[in-house]
Amino acid sequence: MISIEQATTLLLNGKLVAIPTETVYGLAADAKNPTAVQKIYTVKGRPATNPLIIHIPNSDAMIEWAINIPQNAWKLASAFWPGPLTLILNRHPSVPKIVTGGQDTVALRVPNHSLTLALLNQFGGGVAAPSANRYGRISPTTAQHVEKSLGNAVDYILDGGPCTIGIESTIVSLVGPSPIILRYGSISALALRRVLGENLTDKDNHPAIEVPGTSHSHYAPLQPLHLLDKETLMKTLLQWIEQNKKVSVISFKERPAALSPLILKWICMPSQPQFYAQQLYQQLHALDKEKSDCIVVEVPPPSEEWLAIRDRLQRAARPL
Ligand code: TXA
Ligand code: MG
Repeated sequence: MISIEQATTLLLNGKLVAIPTETVYGLAADAKNPTAVQKIYTVKGRPATNPLIIHIPNSDAMIEWAINIPQNAWKLASAFWPGPLTLILNRHPSVPKIVTGGQDTVALRVPNHSLTLALLNQFGGGVAAPSANRYGRISPTTAQHVEKSLGNAVDYILDGGPCTIGIESTIVSLVGPSPIILRYGSISALALRRVLGENLTDKDNHPAIEVPGTSHSHYAPLQPLHLLDKETLMKTLLQWIEQNKKVSVISFKERPAALSPLILKWICMPSQPQFYAQQLYQQLHALDKEKSDCIVVEVPPPSEEWLAIRDRLQRAARPL
């Protein structure tokens, strides 16, 4: 049975609760309780320097967690919250430093999921929540994924069904002279520009900016994943089949009939980024259970609408 009351009580008692959001499931603890927040780092095996996002019930709550809030933050909050956008702002002195990985900035977001919004309203505070997976692995998009990867290490899983967006939020830093995209997500640079009335740069334009927790290897399945263009993919597959390698394939095309018997699994993905994102982690979790030697993924198109997906795939991938 789904119980918001039970989840609220556990959070108030310093326990860990997995929460559904529209992006991925989060592993939540009371953001004002350093002992509870420490458990998140321990359970995930996450470095203490990798800061957590604080999930708050509404935009008005921003003032409890951040100071010197710029006008741009209010504009973005009113356009996109609740929703898949995380804002980096100056940390309010009352935010425990363990939440921010020791930094003087804080990440805030109002998630768009009715159960989690109900939980946050009843809890009355903010919850620190990274994605509810072991460090470096694939983010969970169902309660079953959380159960499988964290099991008894989490005190309660609030099952809100499969996540509708499927990849993590867009992160925008508002602490510098101009807004910077730190992580791409389903809210695009264009959508942000429409609201802010100015062009946004991303962290590649600011090599001096260190974004904690964006280490290269991330979102990775257990088997090696190779990201290949269409031609290389077909050539490599033919070689591997000759060598009796068992391969799983994520492609935009249907499985060519000639290849069928030796290929363990062939997944044909949607050609629209929104639907691709919705399925991506679900498919990677499923492929992790197969006994293939590796996963090959056809690289998505180079256009801007595929940026967030290409970023996740590049960080999951290893060179051939
Ligand atoms: O969609 C999401 O954002 C999901 C759901 C659960 O809300 N959460 C999520 O959390 O993806 P996580 O921990 O997997 O990623 C959080 C990232 C950090 O790795 C870091 O890149 C960035 O947020 N971050 C957090 N605090 C920051 C800060 N003060 N400055 C810069 N980046 C920060
Ligand atoms: Mg994560």
